[in-house]
Amino acid sequence: MPDSMTQLTQELIVEQKGSVALLTLNRPEALNALSHPLMDQMGEALKNFEANSAIRVVVIAGSERVFAAGADISEMQGKTSAEMRADPHLSRWDMVSNFPKPTIAAISGYALGGGLELALACDLRVASETAVFAQPEISIGVIPGAGGTVRLARLLGRALALEMVLTGRRISAHEALSLGMVNRVVPVELFLDEAIKWAHQISAMPPLAAAAAKKSVLSALNPDYPSYPAALKLERELFYSLFDTEDQKEGMQAFTQKRKPEFKGK
Ligand code: CAA
Repeated sequence: MPDSMTQLTQELIVEQKGSVALLTLNRPEALNALSHPLMDQMGEALKNFEANSAIRVVVIAGSERVFAAGADISEMQGKTSAEMRADPHLSRWDMVSNFPKPTIAAISGYALGGGLELALACDLRVASETAVFAQPEISIGVIPGAGGTVRLARLLGRALALEMVLTGRRISAHEALSLGMVNRVVPVELFLDEAIKWAHQISAMPPLAAAAAKKSVLSALNPDYPSYPAALKLERELFYSLFDTEDQKEGMQAFTQKRKPEFKGK
């Protein structure tokens, strides 16, 4: 996709801003409910971005009014458990959490249910002062199904995670910041600019080192990862492997020559 080109789709707007891809949820009439077409388009876009070395960071944003009010309830309401199990819809959230390049959620207004889960699947979160976070699924007869109970339990601990999923309690932007659910809170008119600015800052870093850093942190948090020593061993191995990259030579040479490095992603 050429620089700054915008591809308009029905439910997701895909834009490239230099080395940053911006995915904007675009279903205002349904408060950006995460429908099948929307999440399928997101899955396709992520597949393309993974293969495209020109894209180094992905930002997922909603509008000022709403990030996303959850999975699309009207799509799910008549389904049986067998139909839900056979449906790959929720695996689209896993595509976000497993995406190898850094991701940033730009959140304003409601981030509810699957919307909060989408934000939690990203690596970093910028929230506007109006952001509201909750897992209200219990009030419609279900529980979070795209990682909410698990990610909130790890992030917030047992008591608060249970309070959220048992009562649907809402968390404000400033409370989310104090709990470590979001990285930063900014005035509403700045939330997208701030996320994109941050994405550009990260995209200027050597991408192989960024991917290694992300892989190491995610392995440390993965309960299936064999052990703490194994996670430390992986980190050491990733550190060593970067010494075969041109960017490591460039980065260290630029430091000693007191100049700005030019990273190539090699
Ligand atoms: N799915 C489908 N449509 C939705 C929706 C959703 N999750 N959330 C809102 N909408 C639709 C409404 O049906 C309404 O459509 P109509 O105008 O055609 O009636 C439109 O968006 C505007 O919504 P409201 O009139 O309800 O707006 P409001 O300002 O009064 O309330 C709200 C806003 C508090 C976010 C409210 O819409 C709401 O509670 N939404 C549902 C939140 C929810 O339960 N999310 C969890 C979904 S299940 C899930 O996500 C499972 C999972 O883990 C993957």
